[in-house]
Amino acid sequence: MRLTPQQIEAFDREGYLFFPGLISAEEIAVLAREVPQLYAQRRPENVREKIGDAVRTNFAAHLYSAPFARLARHPRMIEPVRQIFGEDVYMHQFKINGKMAFDGDLWQWHQDYGTWRNDDLMPEARAMNIAIFLDAVNEFNGPLMFIPGSHRLGVLQAEHDTATTSYPLWTINHDTIRKLVGRGGIVAPKGPAGSMILFHGCLVHASTSNLSPWNRVSVYLSLCAVSNHIRRFKRPGYIAHRDFTPIRCLPDDCLLGHYEVPLPWKDGTPAEELQGDLKAA
Ligand code: SIN
Ligand code: MN
Repeated sequence: MRLTPQQIEAFDREGYLFFPGLISAEEIAVLAREVPQLYAQRRPENVREKIGDAVRTNFAAHLYSAPFARLARHPRMIEPVRQIFGEDVYMHQFKINGKMAFDGDLWQWHQDYGTWRNDDLMPEARAMNIAIFLDAVNEFNGPLMFIPGSHRLGVLQAEHDTATTSYPLWTINHDTIRKLVGRGGIVAPKGPAGSMILFHGCLVHASTSNLSPWNRVSVYLSLCAVSNHIRRFKRPGYIAHRDFTPIRCLPDDCLLGHYEVPLPWKDGTPAEELQGDLKAA
């Protein structure tokens, strides 16, 4: 999938592109039916909400689940990012966020690159997210909120919040958010399962909790330009990957066809990937 000059221009201006219904219902079903058994596993990659047992985020499923391993090599996700960066990309992070009905907690206002720079020593904001909706996203189930254009301000001052939710994040204070929203407003892309969002690593975003009876499961691929690989392994390898091999895409029908994919973590997470250390890469 190639982006048009108009799409590139809109991305540069707004910091995101939204593709409603890009992936068919049949393709999404292949992924969605895999999620309950992934979330049921007791492995460190499943981070549960602060209260209760609901999974907040599952890491690195592309290394132990065949449908997600195929998604991680899907040309509709990988090629637009490679086009924007003008070089090969590798998987910096892969997560399936639950935001489960009634139990899904909020994500504070933040920039992803803030965390990638502070924790992982990623040199530049040459990494970005692809979000794929496995459930329909509506105004009630905690849609992702963006402040359009905020990516153009670069990295903003942030504080490390280890208390609000079960997952630590470098978050932006409310005064700054008030000013940014005054300039750019807030948008919340909503659409059917199978919709995709591509967004800049510096785009300021958040989401509220999900008090609705509808799950809001979404997959996030954080793709980094290979030359911009992280320089520090402070976080465990299942959160911030240490394998900088360029992604080679499968054909466009890879979610429906039978393609062999490696599943190196199928029998468990390698011991050296469970811990962070401060060695430079
Ligand atoms: C994130 O910002 O990493 C996740 C936000 C969400 O899933 O709502
Ligand atoms: Mn984020």
